Amino acid sequence: MATNMTQLPNCLPTPGFLQLLQWIARPISYMEACAKRYRDIFTMQLDTPTVFVSNPQALQQILSNDTKDFEAPGELNSIFKPLLGKQSVITISGAQHQRQRRLLIPPFHGERMKIYGQVINDVTEGVINQWQIGKPFSVRSVTQAITLQIMMQAVFGLYHSPRAQLLQQLVGEFLDQAGTPLSVTFLYFPFLQRDLGPLTPWGRQLRLQREVDQLLYEEIRDRRENPDPSRTDILSLLMGSRDEEGQPMTDEELHDELMTLLVAGNETTATALAWAFYWIHKLPAVREKLLEELDRLDDNPDPNIILKLPYLNAVCSETLRIYPVAMLTLPRVVKTPLSLMGYELEPGTLVVGSIYLLHHREDLYPQPEQFKPERFLERQFSPYEYLPFGGGARRCIGQAFAQFEMKMALAKILSCRELELVDRGEVQAKRRGLVTAPDRPVQMVVKSERALKASSLELINN
Ligand code: HEM
Repeated sequence: MATNMTQLPNCLPTPGFLQLLQWIARPISYMEACAKRYRDIFTMQLDTPTVFVSNPQALQQILSNDTKDFEAPGELNSIFKPLLGKQSVITISGAQHQRQRRLLIPPFHGERMKIYGQVINDVTEGVINQWQIGKPFSVRSVTQAITLQIMMQAVFGLYHSPRAQLLQQLVGEFLDQAGTPLSVTFLYFPFLQRDLGPLTPWGRQLRLQREVDQLLYEEIRDRRENPDPSRTDILSLLMGSRDEEGQPMTDEELHDELMTLLVAGNETTATALAWAFYWIHKLPAVREKLLEELDRLDDNPDPNIILKLPYLNAVCSETLRIYPVAMLTLPRVVKTPLSLMGYELEPGTLVVGSIYLLHHREDLYPQPEQFKPERFLERQFSPYEYLPFGGGARRCIGQAFAQFEMKMALAKILSCRELELVDRGEVQAKRRGLVTAPDRPVQMVVKSERALKASSLELINN
């Protein structure tokens, strides 16, 4: 790693330890303060000096070259190892990383989405049916229940077996525990990762993890012993896949990838959906415009039509712009001496894309603190001006899945229930685990079942 701070761009003057603490405690306001002073590029002292970049051209230089002038080593993501394991696609590098990505990507693309459409629809319907009119609920717990159930069914194909239910419950607890500020502190300070018993946060996390591990390995063993070629879930696809040398994934690889999909896929999508519900109901004009679009759909719309709805797409895009659930890309490292925005960087220099700062650039997004879906109808942003899912060698594997899930769940819920925020006060973003989430619980209430759709009324009137 490059350690000579004098050669790094715009190093922050405060002591390194204080920088790390501020980064853990209030990452958004800290990044904003740094950008105010240093604009597009500055160096923060985390456990190593890290160059934060939010200039679109510089991001293009990094992300379109991250297998040439830069690299994207998994060792730098070792913060995730205690949660995901050593063989997770996030924590491995080079050829092994590319192999694992090639095995993981197919289940999340193209035609497969249609199969998940039914799952998303059924799970969302099940959640809606549990709501009672007038009874408040926490948005976060609902969106987490939706994404967790969808993930369990799509990824594991686990339906109602006792193991499935136990796994779902334990994974939910594990994710809640991993999201507490204390757990994040433990991730940043490995020397704190000591098991001091079940009543301590790290001890509790370890125990939950062991229980989840055991269930995952049992599931993998069962599948090996009782293969069923008719299964179409993601675990079955992964177990049947072979790399270029004809080798299947090992049990450890399968286990670590399952944990990765559960952690990376749930926290992010549940949080994004929670934000979307908040903004849609905070701003009546947004909700009205969205309902106008949804009410023109048939009763059982084709998922492909929902995917392409322009205003729904704009609302989801703006949700991920204003508070991108992942504040940063995963780190990249300079491989050969190069110039970035006029700074000469040495091999080993660590660089991250600040997705949050990029999405709040006044020159790209005027009045960036305002939620305005219209931006995405009026202008097309390049992949380096808008990058909620990152780019290059580590671009998010679940992008299409997450976008599909958000759109389907929103369309279903908004079409058949009228919801309202219990409290219309401001909500800010704060760190929740490794993602950016609302700073306080957002409560909503079901006002009524929605009346007949406009399209149906038109038919009756004619
Ligand atoms: C709204 C939801 C989501 C957001 C905003 C999001 C965002 C991101 C970002 C920013 C990265 C890092 C990209 C980079 O460094 O260039 C990433 C990586 C990743 N995401 Fe997502 N993600 C979401 C949902 C999902 C889902 C649903 C899954 C899986 C089902 C998933 C799996 C992954 C994996 C495995 C990686 C690591 C890829 C690698 O290391 O090669 N994500 N995601």
